[in-house]
Amino acid sequence: MNPKLFDTAEIQDFLKESCGYNQEEGNPRVKEIVHRILSDLFKTIEDLNITPDEYWAGIAYLNQLGQSQEAALLSPGLGIDRYLDLRMNAIDEALGVEGRTERMIEGPLYVAGAPVEKGYARLDDGSDKNGHLLLMHGVVYGADGNPLPNAQVEVWHANTKGFYSHFDPTGEQQPFNMRRTIITDDQGRYKFRSILPAGYGCPPDGPTQQLLNQLGRHGNRPAHLHFFISADGHRKLTTQINIDGDPYVNDDFAFAVHDDLVPPVTEVTDEARMKEENMEAPFAEIEFDFHLTALVDGKDNQAVERPRLVG
Ligand code: DHB
Ligand code: FE
Repeated sequence: MNPKLFDTAEIQDFLKESCGYNQEEGNPRVKEIVHRILSDLFKTIEDLNITPDEYWAGIAYLNQLGQSQEAALLSPGLGIDRYLDLRMNAIDEALGVEGRTERMIEGPLYVAGAPVEKGYARLDDGSDKNGHLLLMHGVVYGADGNPLPNAQVEVWHANTKGFYSHFDPTGEQQPFNMRRTIITDDQGRYKFRSILPAGYGCPPDGPTQQLLNQLGRHGNRPAHLHFFISADGHRKLTTQINIDGDPYVNDDFAFAVHDDLVPPVTEVTDEARMKEENMEAPFAEIEFDFHLTALVDGKDNQAVERPRLVG
């Protein structure tokens, strides 16, 4: 038996009271959002005849998610981060914003405060001996189509175990390993040396993976590198590139791959080229340019503020 109470005046009044609609105090926007989500939950309980046991399992899960600090890990896995991106894309389209590099989710593992270097940086500290050398370079272009000197290229990526510094469960990595801020040179160029990351997997025993298991899904990402690109007079770009050939490049649990963001990876074995680039072994080379867009009415209309770790 599934009683139908949701549409009664009693329950509708109850929801309003629960969200403080009869109180002067409080934040109207918060009331509006909580009212909508709570109403949808009440309706879901009724429509799906959710049992108390199922409900309390859900509450225990939320506690576990918070305790493990995994709420921002689950969010991309459920596609919510990508959904927010798609909404920003649609806003750009409506405003006629064109010519930008495709945006892609930030993910939960950025850390502010990485060392800053001009033009070129080495991202890895040499401690990860399994890595294949990577050389990545390109130009940051402004809204007028010209290269942008003094643009800021923030880059961060995982090591060969798929772990990020500051979040590495092995404790092996120094702070800011594989994280740098590179300021473009007078021709708008950036360049860095690092090692190719491995794909990332959700903590296997964590609550994110636990829910993914229930959904019959894996928790793996292809190997990828994250970027924030910013410059005066331009909107900040958040994006990633994914490494071509990775088995998960078309099957990313975080839905964070786009065809435009899988650049060719060229294997360089030529001795002269290795010497020229100060590379002691054959290396993978990626060339990738970033195209920024102008402020909208003098503002970055898509700047995202969120809690971020400061290293
Ligand atoms: C997650 C991890 C990442 O490295 C990333 O880029 C996106 C999402 C995650 O754990 O959810
Ligand atoms: Fe990542």
